[in-house]
Amino acid sequence: MTYRITLLPGDGIGPEITAVARAVLEHVAALEGFRIEFATCAFGGASIDEFGEPLTEATLKTCQASDAIFLGAVGGPKWDRADARPEAGLLALRKALGVYANLRPAAVHPALAGKSPLRPDLVAGTDVLIVRELTGGIYFGTRERSADSASDKCTYSRGEIERVARIAFEQARLRRGKLTSVDKANVLETSRLWRDVVTEMGARDFPDIELDHMYVDAAAMHMLRAPASFDVIVTENMFGDILSDEASMLPGSIGLLGSASLGENKPGLFEPIHGSAPDIAGQDKANPFGAIEAVAQLLESLGETAAAGRIRDAINTMHEAGEWTGDLGGSLSCSQAGVKLVERLEAEAVAAE
Ligand code: NAD
Ligand code: IPM
Ligand code: MN
Repeated sequence: MTYRITLLPGDGIGPEITAVARAVLEHVAALEGFRIEFATCAFGGASIDEFGEPLTEATLKTCQASDAIFLGAVGGPKWDRADARPEAGLLALRKALGVYANLRPAAVHPALAGKSPLRPDLVAGTDVLIVRELTGGIYFGTRERSADSASDKCTYSRGEIERVARIAFEQARLRRGKLTSVDKANVLETSRLWRDVVTEMGARDFPDIELDHMYVDAAAMHMLRAPASFDVIVTENMFGDILSDEASMLPGSIGLLGSASLGENKPGLFEPIHGSAPDIAGQDKANPFGAIEAVAQLLESLGETAAAGRIRDAINTMHEAGEWTGDLGGSLSCSQAGVKLVERLEAEAVAAE
């Protein structure tokens, strides 16, 4: 079996973490006996520099023709004032691929409990999955700007809410059977529709799932008060963006979280949740585990669950041994963390023989 993967290293730490994650991907492919053909394309700021736009037609075509897309991160101060921003390329890619459901898991391995800025006893046992709506809402509404006023329109249709809610309910069914829908229905009309649609779907199609609703401000508070009480969270685009960065502090670093963006069809888009981290770019300091977790999610989407399992086992072994990059108080560089992980994969493969 050969899979075609489009690799979009992007900007800042993107090339550093994707290089490490790619080596891990190639290693598990060899262990499991499948092949990967990579097509690497400039994306984001790198594509602006080379082609004048963040997502070219050719890159989009390459992405659409692949089995999965693996992305580092885009953006940086160099392009913050550009006409076409790197971030616009990312939004255009998500929209063109139709990946409306963005799955962002945050679980606290016992060895990480002391790494959170929250008390270890609070974060212990946390395992939350945020399902973020990714192709609608205020990110994609009409924008207007004059010298002294600006607006961003937020719209959601019933269909857009239903399809992402269905994925969240189904995920809850595969996990602990609990879904929290997060909105701002005390103020926003889009949120009132959101709450109605999720409530109807729960009663009609998922009576076995324990559904509750929270306002986003309270959800942000409860996530710090009692993070282990959450199972699956479903929420609109912008709330999901904010809550998932908050959730990254439960295991202790934004460098740990990966994400899978899925739609009705292949290919899916897989990326860490963090950005291009301009403050540490080019220093071989970034934590590559979030990108590697995204690789595990990518492999799951291809049905290569054994390969994904190997990666997660090796990451867990490193947590248990305290083998971390600087963001978690460890001494490994980004590339050293990658070398260690491959060593762990190899050792576990030999032990299993
Ligand atoms: P960021 O996530 O890039 O960085 C926030 C902080 O977390 C920084 O201190 C950074 O050093 C740290 N950090 C992030 N990833 C890390 C890792 N793997 N290991 C260790 N530390 C890590 O967010 P920001 O600074 O707000 O944004 C920087 C740029 O990235 C902006 O241009 C933004 O638009 C872009 N961005 C892109 C994506 C994406 O490509 N999906 C996501 C978020 C932000
Ligand atoms: C993310 C990022 C993006 C988002 C930006 C860079 C457009 O923050 O992937 O979380 O807001 O979706
Ligand atoms: Mn974000």
